[in-house]
Amino acid sequence: MGSTMVTKEEIARLIDELKNNHQFDFSNYAEQSFSRRIDYVLTSYGLDSVDALLDRLRRGRLVPEKLVNDITVNTTELFRDPEVWINLKRNILPILKKKDAIGIWHAGCSSGEEVYSMLILLAEAGMLDKTRMFATDINTEILEKARAARYNYRLHNSYFDNFDKVMKFNPLNELEEIKVDYAKYFDLNSGESYFQVKQFLKNNLILRQHNLLSNNIFYKFDLIFCRNVIIYFNTELQNRVIQSFWDSMFTNGMLLLGSHESLAYLPIASKFENKMMRGCYLRKDG
Ligand SMILES: C[S@@+](CC[C@H](N)C(=O)[O-])C[C@H]1O[C@@H](n2cnc3c(N)ncnc32)[C@H](O)[C@@H]1O
Repeated sequence: MGSTMVTKEEIARLIDELKNNHQFDFSNYAEQSFSRRIDYVLTSYGLDSVDALLDRLRRGRLVPEKLVNDITVNTTELFRDPEVWINLKRNILPILKKKDAIGIWHAGCSSGEEVYSMLILLAEAGMLDKTRMFATDINTEILEKARAARYNYRLHNSYFDNFDKVMKFNPLNELEEIKVDYAKYFDLNSGESYFQVKQFLKNNLILRQHNLLSNNIFYKFDLIFCRNVIIYFNTELQNRVIQSFWDSMFTNGMLLLGSHESLAYLPIASKFENKMMRGCYLRKDG
């Protein structure tokens, strides 16, 4: 089934249904990626039209949360883009280290690999105990995976390579490499090719469902990760979501976007300073 099967009118009908009857607002999602996902959902449900999907939804034969879970794209990795994590060690951790307490929010955390990547960096730097980590996603099924923190490393053979690349970087002496054992943070089950994140990393972690488009967060954070999430939104929605991040950050708080994302084209850019590393934006006041 190709993307031409789904028309703009069908997409508009589906968006109206989800918005008016189920409080899920996809009206500002980037049109192309949304249509591609609907194509994918129709194929995986064995349906031939959006109307058939709407019919299922209206008859209560499809739970709206399940549909939302299937629409969202959840690709993520442990230490995705290793150079980002190396730069975090080099440039951002020393700033956070000076604080008595650290608040971090992972918005759109998917199955949690990036959340645990950050917790590992904090543990290595001796900063785990003073950190409160808050991780959210709209997709309830993927949050269960994040909670379980059990990952198949055969399916993702870059996981341990990325781990090694990031761990060996020594911010205090770049000529010297650090070797960290996987067993320090993971219980490995080589028979079944999975690893389980150790419990002590999760002690200060809260995982919650949260829709970036409909609920405000009333906490303030020192660092917000929102990587590879806003690419699915149109510019109006991106601006709105970034404004809500600005509201949830301390002055000089930092926002980290994905490697291919930028605020440059958004009106909200003037409220931030692009500093320290690529994709990292500091909240400016006044
Ligand atoms: C491609 S994943 C990115 C995961 C991770 N941040 C990374 O970069 O590896 C995008 C995530 O954003 C979530 N998402 C999409 N729309 C959202 C919304 N309105 N509110 C909260 N999360 C959303 C999806 O469920 C998905 O898990």
